[in-house]
Amino acid sequence: MNQKATLKYGEKSYSMPIVEGTYGEQAFDVRSLRKDTGLITLDSGYMNTGSTKSQITYINGEEGVLLYRGYPIEQLAEASTFVETSYLLIYGELPTPTQLQAFSELLTYHSMLHEDMRHLYDGFPSNAHPMAILSSMVSALSAYYPDSLEPDTHDEHHIGRVLSKVRTIAAFTYQKQHGRPVAYPRNELNYCANFLHMMFSHPAEQTYEPDPELVKALNVLLILHADHEQNCSTSTVRLVGSSRANLYAAISAGISALWGPLHGGANQAVIGMLEEIRAEGGDCSAFIRQVKNRERRLMGFGHRVYKNFDPRASILKTYADRLLSHLELKDELFDIARQLEEVALSDEFFIDRQLYPNVDFYSGILYRAMGIPTEMFTVMFAIGRIPGWIAHWKEMMEDPDLRIGRPRQIYMGAKRRDYVSTEERHPRSP
Ligand code: CMC
Repeated sequence: MNQKATLKYGEKSYSMPIVEGTYGEQAFDVRSLRKDTGLITLDSGYMNTGSTKSQITYINGEEGVLLYRGYPIEQLAEASTFVETSYLLIYGELPTPTQLQAFSELLTYHSMLHEDMRHLYDGFPSNAHPMAILSSMVSALSAYYPDSLEPDTHDEHHIGRVLSKVRTIAAFTYQKQHGRPVAYPRNELNYCANFLHMMFSHPAEQTYEPDPELVKALNVLLILHADHEQNCSTSTVRLVGSSRANLYAAISAGISALWGPLHGGANQAVIGMLEEIRAEGGDCSAFIRQVKNRERRLMGFGHRVYKNFDPRASILKTYADRLLSHLELKDELFDIARQLEEVALSDEFFIDRQLYPNVDFYSGILYRAMGIPTEMFTVMFAIGRIPGWIAHWKEMMEDPDLRIGRPRQIYMGAKRRDYVSTEERHPRSP
């Protein structure tokens, strides 16, 4: 398609190409706009900026559609595993049985941490947030694998390492913070079962055998978090990677971006909010009134892209129900979450603003049921998001048009002025 758009400014008109995606979504290609007109586009928060073309994930926020490499998220959650979905995201196709086996073996091969890395844990305070430890440890991996510092390294082993070791780092953090020795990975266990083993094995107890229902729920959770195109953390990974920083540095930056309460930190904030509502007597309508008065924010609701429903939230609600009944657990917070959803979805404030539960609304309920503590929730999100970050980093590094990411700005500060010595400076009036 060679369609062009015309922009009129003053006496002149400029033309720019239109780019069209697989599903017909269109964009003005503004790359030559500054060269042609001297003007830039201004878009704080990137509400309307496409930073790249990508073949990895498709989202239709109006219709609640999420596809990884063309496959609907509902089908992957039902039938795939996290390892298979990771392969799909990173390499573009579902693996053959031989490819899947080789990929699983790669992850098993890289599941241990360098023994010296265990000593790094001793330097953290016992109450350090697990996300601080995760981002530091992932960044530290580059020190142990210095060949990753070579620009344009695409060694499959680095991909395998980061994907495999994040769960070991996370589980070691948990065990250390509970004053227990770490549990080393067991090669005969699959990715998710191995993680549960490393988290919950106790040296004084019998060999931990992960419950298949927990393993299935964890696979689903990780699959649902595995990619979400150009969100804040993925854009961070791309921006850092665009300077040709190594994979570990780029992923570590993504982990830091994910930490914020408006992004991956929301799953932890949701549980905090539900606990507050419970402590205040469980009155969801009163809480919603406060949200509408802008005294509080309904965490786990709203999304920059989904303006109808978040398909991940619907799947997780079903799995939360399923896991709680399998474990014969009653969770008051789940009841409050369901009531809150019901009250919010019938309220004009939320309807008008198209605010619906997002992936974080029910994920915490599932993690709680698995025995994962609240401060680890965002770490769980990070483990799930690793394949997406790798896939975007790889796609970007293989793009022959790759250029360093470098937005521009409109300067609104003081005009040029001369330096004044300290003695001559007069205190500003308050
Ligand atoms: N509770 C109350 N009001 C809200 C909420 C909310 N959760 N989300 C948006 N609004 C209101 C907001 O106040 C604004 O109202 P008005 O136009 O009257 O000022 C309107 O809805 C539009 O909101 P926005 O902040 O302009 O929307 P955004 O696209 O910039 O922000 C968001 C998206 C996800 C940051 C936001 O909805 C939010 O803060 N949600 C709560 C945090 C959360 O659950 N984050 C997880 C997102 S999904 C997973 C992930 O990406 O990590």
